[in-house]
Amino acid sequence: MLGDKKVLFSGMQATGSLTLGNYLGALKNWLTLSDEFECFYSVVDLHSITIRQDPTEFRKKARNLLMLYIAAGLDPKKNCIFYQSHVSGHCELAWILDCFTYMGELNRMTQFKDKSAKHADNINAGLYTYPVLMAADILLYQADVVPVGKDQLQHLELTRDIAGRFNALFGDVFTIPEPYLGKAGAKIMSLQDPAKKMSKSDENPNASIYLTDDRDTVIRKFKRAVTDSEASIRYDVENKPGVSNLIEIYGAVTGKTFAEVEKEFDGKGYGDFKLAVGEAVADMLTPLQTRFDELSKDKAYIDGIVKENAEKANYFATKTLRKVQKKVGFNEIIR
Ligand code: TYM
Repeated sequence: MLGDKKVLFSGMQATGSLTLGNYLGALKNWLTLSDEFECFYSVVDLHSITIRQDPTEFRKKARNLLMLYIAAGLDPKKNCIFYQSHVSGHCELAWILDCFTYMGELNRMTQFKDKSAKHADNINAGLYTYPVLMAADILLYQADVVPVGKDQLQHLELTRDIAGRFNALFGDVFTIPEPYLGKAGAKIMSLQDPAKKMSKSDENPNASIYLTDDRDTVIRKFKRAVTDSEASIRYDVENKPGVSNLIEIYGAVTGKTFAEVEKEFDGKGYGDFKLAVGEAVADMLTPLQTRFDELSKDKAYIDGIVKENAEKANYFATKTLRKVQKKVGFNEIIR
């Protein structure tokens, strides 16, 4: 708790352009939760260097991501929007938690297995301990709730295990966080291969909708989305994964249930349906893109936000860190 509000922490990596999956799985929920909770939203740039980045490009991507949080509608005066690398406590706590995490636990992480297969020439130690840094992110702010997409649930479970283990040894140090999944959109699939999740790093540009895609591109990508030959708009993930993914997207964007979507398109063809999904998504993205362009021109405003929020995040992070350092038996810093 911070004051009378529960605490929320979440973050995204700055490794590519954000996709519709990131938006519907995470960012959209952040917006609806932002009044109810004391929120910390981080651009998790420390996590991003587990994969090689071009420094100039990376700096730009991270800054764009921070601006995108604001462009999506998060008020940076109410929500603490900050770069993870500006708060050294994340790394300091991660090291301590590393010593309370078992290799057996990390060996089971599916994201580690996937990423090592994809980047076989760079299976670094950071990629392996990535989930512990994520646990540190969350526990540092004593977060009660963590809105994420389904692919992050395993990391959340590990975070809870580490926190529980630490608390069992040292008393009630950490709040045990709960994951928060939105009603729809927790796992948006690729438009070209609905067996795969929509991902920032997909090599096929038609597979993902990027939040920066213009209207024509969005509509064109939906027109090309893989469906099936049955020509009926029905939610059935097993037999109709492509169409079900489009229903999921349309439902998440419009707030309609799957049944309502099915009814709306009863008797209509895939062409009409795909166009409607494309238009709904484009309508949702246009104001975000306009706001993003405005923010890009206001360097002083963004710099001010970055400074102010880094100070705020550091303040709360340090409180937890000092407590943890004391618990494990480090000598106090003399000032
Ligand atoms: P990242 O950057 O891969 O993704 C950011 C958020 O988007 C969600 N997401 C999706 N949701 C639905 N459908 C999809 N296709 C899809 N793709 C991505 C993710 O679940 C995530 O919520 N490890 C995290 C970042 C992180 C973090 C944290 C998150 C670091 N520390 C602490 C929460 C709390 C990651 O790589 O997310």
